[in-house]
Amino acid sequence: MEQRDRWDSRFSFILAAIGSAIGLGNVWRFPYVCYANGGGAFLLAYLIALFSAGIPLLILEFGLGHKMEGAAPDAMRKIKKGLEWFGWMAIGVGFFIVVYYAVVMSYCFNYGYFSLAQAWGEDPGGFFNHTLGLTSGPFQMGTLKWGIVLGLVLAWVWIVASIWKGAKTVGKVVYVTVLFPWLLLIVFIIRGVTLPGAADGLAFYLTPDFSKLLLPKVWLAAYTQVFFSLSVGFGIMIAYSSFLPKKAEITNSAFIIGMCDALTAFLGGLAVFGALGYLAHITGRPVAEVVASGPGLAFVTYPAIISNLPFWQPFFGVLFFLMLLTLGIDSAFSLVEAVAAGVLDKWKVSHRKANLSVALIALLLGIPLCFGGGLFWLDIVDNFMNKFGITIICLGECILIGWVFGSGKIREYANSLSELKIGAWWDFLVRILTPLVLVFLIIMEVIDRIGSSYGGYPRLAEFLGGWLIVILLPILGIIFMLVKGRSVE
Ligand code: TRP
Repeated sequence: MEQRDRWDSRFSFILAAIGSAIGLGNVWRFPYVCYANGGGAFLLAYLIALFSAGIPLLILEFGLGHKMEGAAPDAMRKIKKGLEWFGWMAIGVGFFIVVYYAVVMSYCFNYGYFSLAQAWGEDPGGFFNHTLGLTSGPFQMGTLKWGIVLGLVLAWVWIVASIWKGAKTVGKVVYVTVLFPWLLLIVFIIRGVTLPGAADGLAFYLTPDFSKLLLPKVWLAAYTQVFFSLSVGFGIMIAYSSFLPKKAEITNSAFIIGMCDALTAFLGGLAVFGALGYLAHITGRPVAEVVASGPGLAFVTYPAIISNLPFWQPFFGVLFFLMLLTLGIDSAFSLVEAVAAGVLDKWKVSHRKANLSVALIALLLGIPLCFGGGLFWLDIVDNFMNKFGITIICLGECILIGWVFGSGKIREYANSLSELKIGAWWDFLVRILTPLVLVFLIIMEVIDRIGSSYGGYPRLAEFLGGWLIVILLPILGIIFMLVKGRSVE
């Protein structure tokens, strides 16, 4: 058997894991989710979810991947033969996410191009709708937007190029794709908070509405945003830790990664909301009115803001797009690596072939999202993969590793490697608290969806973009499990 792919240093691993965690989720997703769920109060829910569930599950995934030396399907199979499908299902959730994630990266390419050309002219707010040719609903498909297709192809070429040689090249690429966007983020925070009116935007972002903490949907949003942002529940961190050398520090790394990620999300919010305050200021409208909530937030507000900057507009426009792209790229390729690692554990194919096939299928599945009605579908898939995909995988991990395998074994294993020792509190979080919270949140969400469709979309659209994929995931997992691999055991 050939040598397993390895990181060249501990720092490469941490950077790669941070790179996977920090992504569009921090600057594109976090601000609008936070805004829609109580602003400052959401931050509190987010921190609680981070420390009680996010970081503990990160430790669990690191411990599992490292101990089993395998990607998610292989690691699950080593726990119990019949569980391999669950590992594939975890990867499947990430796979459907990367399909639309790459489309958001394509928006960034288009965005950069338009800001260079200053092509959104007098109606910056209309940029997004114009570029996307946004229609009035998911079944009005509109026309195919070639600019978005082109951006999508570029995104995929870049993703595949970054991981061409596996962990060794990834370990180098992430020096740039983690550190560069951080630098840019600092530029945008300074720019954002020093604009006139920024304080109003920040007040909007940070003033807590504590009554929101009584709503289960706020907690569901906090938990899913934490998992999404930490890349937990996709088999990514299992694969990444399986590339670690035998001697490795696990628990400490998990804390570093979790805290860096949360800090970056918080700062991303500062940049976006500071700029929103400025937009309100120059248009003479209240902040609440200029906020375009939903996935368009960063894309609708930033073009508007940048074309109103006193000077250097194209410069800031291109930098903002570069920041988003370099933030997103290492998250996107971490998932491709995780799928490829799963495939390589099971079948005898070349690393390149595995990567290329994953990329090609994801690219093709992304094409429908490049139509005028695509953003509606993107929104539906995003919602369902987060609210049901990630939560179900995380719940499954709590049950299968916490109870079936025994969390104590992972804790002892992690402690034997790490300087920072975790206590029995970790078992409590993973075995009892987190699964209880997740079960409650999933049930509440199902009740909500029975009452009304997500976002008021037609039921059929909700079914095709949401439930159908949720139902397909375990079926695909079982099919992948049953296909014969190279090691006939
Ligand atoms: N953690 C990433 C972010 O914050 C998002 C992410 C998680 C992701 N899992 C993924 C992206 C899988 C693509 C594929 O942006």
